[in-house]
Amino acid sequence: MSTAGTIVILTGAGVSAESGIATFRGPGGLWEGHRVEDVCTPAALARDAALVHRFYDLRRAALDTVTPNAAHDALARLDAAWPGELLIVTQNVDDLHERAGARRLLHVHGELRSALCAACGSRRAWHDALPPATICPACAAPALRPDIVFFGEIPYEMERVEAALARADLFVSIGTSGAVYPAAGFVRAAAAAGAATLELNLERSAGSAWFDETRLGPAGVLVPAWVDAVLAR
Ligand code: OAD
Repeated sequence: MSTAGTIVILTGAGVSAESGIATFRGPGGLWEGHRVEDVCTPAALARDAALVHRFYDLRRAALDTVTPNAAHDALARLDAAWPGELLIVTQNVDDLHERAGARRLLHVHGELRSALCAACGSRRAWHDALPPATICPACAAPALRPDIVFFGEIPYEMERVEAALARADLFVSIGTSGAVYPAAGFVRAAAAAGAATLELNLERSAGSAWFDETRLGPAGVLVPAWVDAVLAR
């Protein structure tokens, strides 16, 4: 890019792996032993709310034990320095991008440190355990649940993401397997809009063939090198 163009960055679990948060589908993954779809669904919540709430309570508590890694730091540095439009779209429910300092950030799959009211739809910061039937401060219904976008639910902020993809000059996908839509389709939307597309991942993702270029390796190495190169242009 000769002038400051629009950069859209999609991140997934691989960007937090080197911070010690297990990925979803790799060996040793968070969900090993049961399919993601068997826990992360509205039906699972209706069937066994205690189990689903406890699962996310543990994930939320685990955030206290991890810190951003070199990939989060580099993306925050790019966010601060890039003079053009930039949007980091993360599928991650951890808060490591913002703790590293990223500001132009959307959490499309929800956030561990947030609670959603199933009755009135309000969302609020939440740092402690969240037992089922916790009262919503906004509407008084006993309906607070983890603010996680379950399978079958609509990801957040899709209009803003689609608008950014339509303007993108460069789309970069980092640490995601490309198994979950709509995020897995962003590369094709960006390419259709004329963006260059780059994948940074440990291994080729499901949609690898759609990218102009793939670089394989750990995010903690690939992302700082890529950011340095972009800012040096
Ligand atoms: P996955 O676990 O499916 O994929 C993680 C990707 O990161 C894989 O392609 C790994 O090869 C790669 N990876 C692992 N370690 C890496 C490292 N150190 N550096 C770079 N890449 C690395 O996770 P996601 O694609 O994020 O949704 O999963 C998408 C969604 O599936 C998640 O947001 C989650 C789940 O259902 C919800 O929780 C709503």
